[in-house]
Order: sequence, then structure tokens, then C-alpha cells
Amino acid sequence: MVELLPLSDIEPQAVEHLLDAAFGTDRFGRTAYRIREGVDQVRALSFALIENGALVGTIQCWPVAHRAGDGTATSLVMVGPVAVRPDLQRGGHGRVLMAHMLAAAETKADAALMMIGDPEYYGRFFGFTADATAAWGLPGPYEPRRLLARAVNGHGLPTGAGMIGPR
Ligand SMILES: CC(C)(COP(=O)(O)OP(=O)(O)OC[C@H]1O[C@@H](n2cnc3c(N)ncnc32)[C@H](O)[C@@H]1OP(=O)(O)O)[C@@H](O)C(=O)NCCC(=O)NCCS
Repeated sequence: MVELLPLSDIEPQAVEHLLDAAFGTDRFGRTAYRIREGVDQVRALSFALIENGALVGTIQCWPVAHRAGDGTATSLVMVGPVAVRPDLQRGGHGRVLMAHMLAAAETKADAALMMIGDPEYYGRFFGFTADATAAWGLPGPYEPRRLLARAVNGHGLPTGAGMIGPR
């Protein structure tokens, strides 16, 4: 049996253990962690996937913003990490987590979505592209082709130059 729960219902230590397994224990140096430094996850858009009572996947979202040189700030929601237990990857769990988050975002997201991820996955299945992000900057190294974004719930994307950081 598979169920989706708010991530806030899950023991934080179990979530950290799953993230270590999916991304490695050196994950904290990643640029994505700097983008959302110091902010709390968006509870309404962060979920756990439970299969037969065990935690098998998580998705987290974070309040971030695009800040232009003239001081204009545009809110965004950063999606990720999306993590599936390594022994269960490529079994559809990542798609279930993303689809559930996107359905919630259609009515609850207070800003458009951005993420660092593979366009071959997040573009192919979920409509994320790098079309709007060419002039964006991040507080650390990244591959421009993997800086993805998507409008949602009536919220559009800033396309001009700007730094992405915590909201
Ligand atoms: C990336 C991840 C979340 C995908 O979830 P998953 O449950 O393994 O994948 P799904 O079963 O939902 O999707 C399967 C399909 O997506 C494809 N796919 C999965 N990961 C992919 C990737 N990184 N790039 C391209 N395609 C990918 C598979 O080939 C498969 O395609 P097919 O149906 O044509 O065979 C999961 O593999 C994971 O946790 N990976 C490690 C952590 C990570 O890289 N997270 C993403 C960055 S935030």
C-alpha cells in the first residue's frame, strides 16, 4: 500500500537518512542548499511517500526569490530535493511525488516554481524548462541547462537578470 503524507508528519531523522542515501552525505555543499539557506520548507508542498509503512520517497519545497539589480524581488518556490530510496528508483515513485506536489501547487503555490534538475526528467514529465532562467544567477556552481522553472497557479516567471536566494 502506498500513501502520501505531509512531510511534517515524518520523523526528521528518517528524512535525513533517506536524503543521505539518495544524494550522499556530502550533499550539504550543493548550490541548492545555499539558495534556501535559513528558510523553512513550504509545508503545503512538501510530502513523504510511504510504502507498506516505510518511508520510500520525499519531496521538499522552499520559499526563495529572484532579486534583480534594481532591488525588485520576485518570489519563487524552489522544488527539491526529490529523493527516492536507491533500491526503489525508476519504479514510478519520483513521478508520483512530483505529480502530487504539482497538483497541490496548482492551488496553493504562492509563486512560480524553480529547481536544479535534469531536464530529461523534469522537462519530459513535468513541464520544467530553462527558457526563462538564462539570465538568473545562483550562489554557487551549476550547469545552466539544469536551472529549470515553470509557471504555476497564475504565477509567472521573471526572465531578467537576478540572483536566486532565500526569501
Ligand atoms: C530522480 C528521482 C527522484 C526519480 O525518481 P524515480 O522514482 O527513480 O523515477 P521514476 O520511476 O519516477 O521515473 C522513471 C522514468 O524517468 C526516467 N528518469 C529517472 N531519473 C532520470 C534522470 N535523472 N534523468 C533522466 N531520466 C530519468 C527513467 O529513465 C524512467 O523513464 P522510462 O519510464 O522511460 O523508463 C530518483 O531517481 C532519485 O531520487 N535520484 C537520486 C536523487 C536525485 O538525483 N534527485 C533529483 C534531483 S532534485
